[in-house]
Amino acid sequence: MSDEPKWRTDFPIRWEGDNYTTRREFTKFLVLASGATFLGNGYFVVKRLDQQREEHPTVDVASVGEVPVGGVKLFRYPTEDIPAVLIRLGEDEYVAFLQRCTHLSCPVHYIRERERIECPCHNGVFDARTGRVVEGPPPRPLPRIRLRVADGRIQAEGIMPA
Ligand code: FES
Repeated sequence: MSDEPKWRTDFPIRWEGDNYTTRREFTKFLVLASGATFLGNGYFVVKRLDQQREEHPTVDVASVGEVPVGGVKLFRYPTEDIPAVLIRLGEDEYVAFLQRCTHLSCPVHYIRERERIECPCHNGVFDARTGRVVEGPPPRPLPRIRLRVADGRIQAEGIMPA
């Protein structure tokens, strides 16, 4: 019977330096792997910050009073192919969201009686004040559009980070 350790018979790879390099090589591997992980995470953090800083246009949506309390106005934001909805929740209370469900992008609708935004596709429900998910499969809140009211006009001027 061989007097070599069992691991050597299980893994019969011969290498001249295999007795001397294990600890050093493993430490080197850990340092490199940690560095790569750190750099990878840093890249995603910087990318995310860049996305949040992304410039959005200022778009005129409606005049104050054009939408009745409890009413909505559909518009496009931040580009012409993205539907959005302005909701007048109260006398001086306006909110706006992208109109695409965060589940599979079906158009969502404001339901005044329940003060909710609902998705007909898979019964997703969002809070009409915050856009947060109340029920159903949507994984994220509705992206909320930053509004500014100035000189009797309501303007969209960005999308808030989720
Ligand atoms: S697409 Fe809205 S719940 Fe599925």
